[in-house]
Amino acid sequence: MKKSIAAREYDNILQTYKRLPIAVDHAEGCRIYDTGGNEYLDFLGGIAVNALGHSHPKIISAVKAQIDKYMHVSNYFYQEPQIELAEALKNISGYGKVFFTNSGAESIEGTLKLVRRWGNKRKKNTILSFTGGFHGRTMGALSLMDKPHYKADMGPFLSGIKVLPYNDTDALKKNITDETAAIVIEFIQGEGGISSASEEFIKTIFELIEKYNFIVVADEIQSGVGRTGKFFSFEHFNVKPDVVTVAKGIGGGLPLGAILTLDHLSDIFESGMHGTTYGGNPVACAAGKVVIDELANGVMENAENIGQYLEYELQKLLLKFPSLISEIRGKGLMRGLLMTFDAGEIVADLIKRKVLSNAASGTVLRMVPPLIINKQDVDLFIERLDKCLKEKIS
Ligand SMILES: Cc1ncc(COP(=O)(O)O)c(C=O)c1O
Repeated sequence: MKKSIAAREYDNILQTYKRLPIAVDHAEGCRIYDTGGNEYLDFLGGIAVNALGHSHPKIISAVKAQIDKYMHVSNYFYQEPQIELAEALKNISGYGKVFFTNSGAESIEGTLKLVRRWGNKRKKNTILSFTGGFHGRTMGALSLMDKPHYKADMGPFLSGIKVLPYNDTDALKKNITDETAAIVIEFIQGEGGISSASEEFIKTIFELIEKYNFIVVADEIQSGVGRTGKFFSFEHFNVKPDVVTVAKGIGGGLPLGAILTLDHLSDIFESGMHGTTYGGNPVACAAGKVVIDELANGVMENAENIGQYLEYELQKLLLKFPSLISEIRGKGLMRGLLMTFDAGEIVADLIKRKVLSNAASGTVLRMVPPLIINKQDVDLFIERLDKCLKEKIS
């Protein structure tokens, strides 16, 4: 008898992922279809990756056209898709130059090197980050994080890093010194439960720059690329960090990341000091260019408008089920519902009703759907979530 896909996965793949009980056959728009013919409404979006949904025709044709030309030649060569995407990024973000990577963690690692070089020249050897932050699974990224679960028995980690309590202005003021090289922050924490930085906290960080001269790094890997209705989530705070780490949504489903810098940092790396074989892969960059173009042509506006509609509908659920929901979090289409119980339960109930979402930080139901969802998708989501919640109190 042929083994199940779950058994074959168990037999052959290291058991680091908790899989949903779904074997994917194909996916289109905001829907995923399993091998049993079931259709799922996708409010997970490949964990905030599929900005334009699945199988977007423009991404498919751009990728096919690039594959027909070349798939990989190495960063020894000038490649039009990289330059085009870099230009588009500069245009939409107002940042200076870009370094392309393949993932979020890689964007963080490159940024740590950049920040260290900048700091070492100025005798600044400390980097500050915050509790609840998530920056990736590599050693540098883990060193910026506090959650023991991600770090169990994996040390020693990088020295010269202090993780301070998020949104604690006093702790920040106490710990910032002339030796501070950089602050690394998610303006809206994704894995940390869609928690936003407070206005006061961000204001304090940026006020302290004048006295202590440090770099602010915004980790926009989850919250960036239009997800919150603006290109970067820090735009909601009217500030401009020096470095921005990007990944997830920018590749439209292909592995792509980026480090964006303001002009004053564009010469920190000299030739050969940093690099990656695949970073800026031309096929991924061709997809990325479509993502940026579509965002500029209405998709980002949709994220803002539909995000507001989703918030409005979630408010109604909050009023209807105050014993189950205690808070609505996030902006645009990066939303969280703080539940009064383990959010994993509601995620499982939603799967039974053919809706995909996930839990962040234990008690938060996270919604990061494709940025192209419409009102009908939201209505369907709310209708099914409403049924799950009703079931919970009955
Ligand atoms: C804010 C943030 N930073 C970094 C990462 C790591 O990205 P990757 O999984 O592509 O390495 C993630 C992934 O969830 C993230 O949400």
